[in-house]
Amino acid sequence: MSYRVLFQSDAQPYRGILPLMQDRCQVEWWRAPELDSATDLTAIEGMYVYSHMRVEGALMERMPNLRVISNFGVGCDHIDLDGAKRLGIPVGNTPGVLDATTADLTFALLMAAARNLLPGYHHARGPDFIQYDASILLGQHITGATIGIVGLGRIGYQVAKRALGFDMDVVYHNRNRNMKAEEDLGARHVSLDELLSTADFITLNMPLTDDTRGMIGSRELGLMKPTAVLVNAARGPVIDQEALVATMRARRIHCAALDVTDPEPLPRDHELLGMDNVIVIPHLGSATVKTRDDMSQMSVENLLAGIEGREVPHRIA
Ligand code: 8YV
Repeated sequence: MSYRVLFQSDAQPYRGILPLMQDRCQVEWWRAPELDSATDLTAIEGMYVYSHMRVEGALMERMPNLRVISNFGVGCDHIDLDGAKRLGIPVGNTPGVLDATTADLTFALLMAAARNLLPGYHHARGPDFIQYDASILLGQHITGATIGIVGLGRIGYQVAKRALGFDMDVVYHNRNRNMKAEEDLGARHVSLDELLSTADFITLNMPLTDDTRGMIGSRELGLMKPTAVLVNAARGPVIDQEALVATMRARRIHCAALDVTDPEPLPRDHELLGMDNVIVIPHLGSATVKTRDDMSQMSVENLLAGIEGREVPHRIA
């Protein structure tokens, strides 16, 4: 029995995914922004979403035999979840397996930004480094500082745990309090404004929703300490990017470290890419071999379960 699967990806998929589908699925590729009109959508039984292109309800409606949408990743802001619900199509994702990896990366960005690793890297290779100088590239002190985590869910919890290893004070802002983080880690719930104005390090670890879109705008950036480090490991649109450009151009805060941008990737001539107080990396939050293997396993399990009419083990909608 070979299931018909629409595989949505504008990149070559991670090596572990297709072998898990082998023998069970016949894959129809959706690689370009426009779906190939030759694809017989009425035959599609499962959809695998690998990249972040929008998946609209209108497309789902054109697949009357679609029984599941499986997303490679935890964030499903690119999928019309309401549309899927309305049509009774379960959507699976990969929660849990990427929490530690994404928290590690959040911390890597925090530390790189605080301690000027990128300017240091360039200086060490440049013509000016001909004499050691103890007065250059002085960074922000990490140990004992205050970290403000916006979005203390599964990933934010892991960020807080790492922060304790650096004797940091942990404050967080969520719509709902995270009692486990308060009890286990001593994290303190504060208003967004208090977090922004008191934290030395601000990490964004929330999902992208209607509530969080544009949550960090010019007013919010203006509340941050001049020495603040802002890390975005969530989604690009949680920050008003125009406001961020203006903030960093004016050197209003120490550094912004971005794993995600809006759009992704940024146009090659985007101003953020030329700034020495901004770090941009290409959405590496969960990019380790172990995590990619775990995500592959989970997402293909979700796909096959849905196609076969079993309960989708990790279902977001
Ligand atoms: C994934 C992510 O790598 O899981 C998520 O929500 O942002 C990333 O860690 C990505 O979504 C896979 O395409």
